[in-house]
Amino acid sequence: MSVVVDAEAAELVLANCLEKDEFNLFFRKLLGSGSIMAPVSVWRPRRKQMAPFFGITNANRSQDSLLKHSDNLVKHLESMADTEPFSMFDIFYPYAFDTIMELILGLTLNSHEEEDTRVLKAVPDCFNSVAYFLFQPYLQFEIIYSRLPIWAKFLNDKQNIQRLIAKVMASKQKLYDGKNNNVDANISLKSLVDFLYSSPDDKKFSIDEIREELFVMLFGSTILPCVSLCFTCMMLAKYPDVQEKLIRELDEESSRYEKGLTKSRPHENKYLEAVIKETFRLYPSVPTVSRKIDKDIEMPSGTVLPAGAACFISIWGIHRNPKYWGPDADSFRPERFFDSPPKHPATLMPFSYKSRGCIGMHFGMLSLKVILASLLKEYRFLPNTTTDAPVRPLYDIILKDADNYMIRLKRRDRIQQ
Ligand code: HEM
Repeated sequence: MSVVVDAEAAELVLANCLEKDEFNLFFRKLLGSGSIMAPVSVWRPRRKQMAPFFGITNANRSQDSLLKHSDNLVKHLESMADTEPFSMFDIFYPYAFDTIMELILGLTLNSHEEEDTRVLKAVPDCFNSVAYFLFQPYLQFEIIYSRLPIWAKFLNDKQNIQRLIAKVMASKQKLYDGKNNNVDANISLKSLVDFLYSSPDDKKFSIDEIREELFVMLFGSTILPCVSLCFTCMMLAKYPDVQEKLIRELDEESSRYEKGLTKSRPHENKYLEAVIKETFRLYPSVPTVSRKIDKDIEMPSGTVLPAGAACFISIWGIHRNPKYWGPDADSFRPERFFDSPPKHPATLMPFSYKSRGCIGMHFGMLSLKVILASLLKEYRFLPNTTTDAPVRPLYDIILKDADNYMIRLKRRDRIQQ
């Protein structure tokens, strides 16, 4: 097994080795063979088929839906502002969930008002169960894990998600049955499930393939944007100067946009992008990705990674490597993206890199920008305790905050009074 913290070496591995390593087999066993875990022979045609849906043009078309969910979140937060600290994850997550449900399943939900929270809770609970099994290797033997209460809970959560998917698929099946569709002319379809059902016959996914893809897609895409949003808000609370500068820039952008002086919307602001990138650099929601080495590869250092070995790319390590980011690599400084950021594209790869990187990258990035711009229009983030309290990152499949993303919120109009 090898661990890579060098961008050039990471590029070599990610460009040449597409197969996931043995570590992922356990995920596959629990969660099926959707794209994230699939062997290359299964993954390649599916990725090719789904790529247009996740392209930048289609992601931009989802702006209105993102704005709608952000506005709902801004309203919900009214009652949380100027009160006690609260966990951002608990409040933001239902909105992140609704956004993804609309994109993937075409469902319009209001999860924070629903009484039945079984599916909403099932996704993070499934995540926690998988992490629990994964980090205790003796639990990866079926004879042991299948006897534990957490296994029954995991199966129940999984079934709740699968039941919802089955319901949506049954309605789409009726809608698209026998229709002569053409996906290439129709990539602006709003949801992934519509996109998959309306594929031309020669490219059609089977029912089992659609089911498998929708399941891992929901599993992989609801938590990560939410966690990334929480970390960015924590950084803004911790660095009030950065927050003030960002608010100023967003206000100026809004006023230029409203007066018709510019076409770029506030969320297209470059400083906002730099703040998100700097948060991703220090707290990448996926801190490690792994691959199986297909054939012997010589690294730039001369070391040869042997065929068959597992290779872990430490995104965390590359993002904090002083060779690329300088002596202040551990400091939060969004301005570094305007000074002289490193040129190599693999020095910043929160969505991984090369052909097996995140398919939802454009959507993930856009959703963060839209929600942050909406939140900062109304609120300022304040730290739970003091600005110098350290962030305590916790590595559990994804990167989390050990203190549950606590924050305080102030309404901007109250501060100015
Ligand atoms: C901030 C949000 C997100 C982050 C940080 C993130 C990060 C990642 C990373 C690092 C990988 C690559 C794993 C690897 O190289 O082995 C990945 C894969 C993937 N992501 Fe994301 N992701 C985000 C949002 C999304 C969204 C919104 C979707 C879908 C709507 C999505 C769907 C996927 C899928 C399907 C894959 C597997 C790609 C493949 O193997 O072809 N992700 N993500």
